[in-house]
Amino acid sequence: MSAVASSAAFRKLRLRNFRNFAELELSFPPAGVAVIGDNGTGKTNLLEALYYLEIFRSFRGAPDEQLVRFGEEVFHVRGVLDGAGSAREIEAAFERRSRRKRVAVNGAEPDRLGDALGGVGVVIFSPADMTLVAGAPGDRRRFLDIVLSLNRPGYLGALQRYRQILKHRNAMLRSGGSDALLAAWDEGLAEWGGRVVAWRAEWIAEIAPGFARRYAAIAGGQTARVAYASSVPLGDTPPGAEAAAEAFRAELARLGPRERERGMTLVGPHRDDLAILLQRDGGEAELRDFGSGGQQRTAAIALRMVEAETVRSARGREPVVLLDDVFAELDPGRSGRILELLEDEERGQVILTAPKESDLELRRGSLAHWRIEAGAVLT
Ligand SMILES: Nc1ncnc2c1ncn2[C@@H]1O[C@H](COP(=O)(O)OP(=O)(O)OP(=O)(O)O)[C@@H](O)[C@H]1O
Ligand SMILES: [Mg+2]
Repeated sequence: MSAVASSAAFRKLRLRNFRNFAELELSFPPAGVAVIGDNGTGKTNLLEALYYLEIFRSFRGAPDEQLVRFGEEVFHVRGVLDGAGSAREIEAAFERRSRRKRVAVNGAEPDRLGDALGGVGVVIFSPADMTLVAGAPGDRRRFLDIVLSLNRPGYLGALQRYRQILKHRNAMLRSGGSDALLAAWDEGLAEWGGRVVAWRAEWIAEIAPGFARRYAAIAGGQTARVAYASSVPLGDTPPGAEAAAEAFRAELARLGPRERERGMTLVGPHRDDLAILLQRDGGEAELRDFGSGGQQRTAAIALRMVEAETVRSARGREPVVLLDDVFAELDPGRSGRILELLEDEERGQVILTAPKESDLELRRGSLAHWRIEAGAVLT
């Protein structure tokens, strides 16, 4: 961790007609800031805008249309960065009518949007992360896909190829195409799907100890673990892409008749899950079904912390950490221990929001405090 040479940081942010902000221009202190304001004033919107520059979509999963200020046509987001690799300025704009999105890094439009992903190096902790734990498998696949797309070169391309082939194959299964036609898709499905599965399995194995350690540290003794619950039968150690493709092929052959009956592909990374298991005497239970609200929040925070570690090691710089009201609903013991972990691990810029001044202060109160009121920030 000490090998990290630099820290990414937002220096400036400019918004036009983004959510409830008509016009906003901010200069951030290098260490970061605590943004304090009532419910509904725009705290989450502000973090959503900052994170937009990382993935060019809403971290809340909102469509771009919803990000345009009511009654307006176009939103603009522009960030000036320090220490974020080659990206010094990232801009994005979206027009409602044409549904056209424009992105520029250092003034130039990338050939593909995917080339500009992850330009900042930022991790966001939000109350919506509850769905990472309590939500459907699809929510956790989305998390895996975003983390890996941002931190493993080649992953996004493989995932896109896989999805395309899957779409064709499912259409073939629905329309009852011949075995020969179906088999034409199987090889590509297994090859690209095998890569996706192998990448995911490898990442989950890599972060599993760090997840367990952080969960136990926050929960004060209780333990939990993560594992890849793949529909493709994998051994105990993460397989390489070739072995995963081989297992995938075998499973496709086995499930062929059932797939025809059901008219869809029944195995593959699109059916997989990130299992999050609470360990208790005598066995394990899915945190999704059996965890309390606080336990689920704890697991979500531990997942974001391992994501931050992944950003740190993959990009060789400290990520910016965005904390949206992160201590809501947690008991004082857990909140205090999260704070300690964050102080310990997150050395870069921190931008946090809270509805009120808190006794829980990050950086021993050295962060600047700003107030936010109905779309205006008082610095
Ligand atoms: N497209 C939009 N145009 C204008 N206003 C919007 C738009 N989308 C959302 N809003 C408004 O933005 C306001 C602030 O939302 P935000 O989620 O940022 O609040 P918050 O400060 O995080 O509140 P809380 O403390 O409750 O989480 C809400 O009143 C919401 O109605
Ligand atoms: Mg909010």
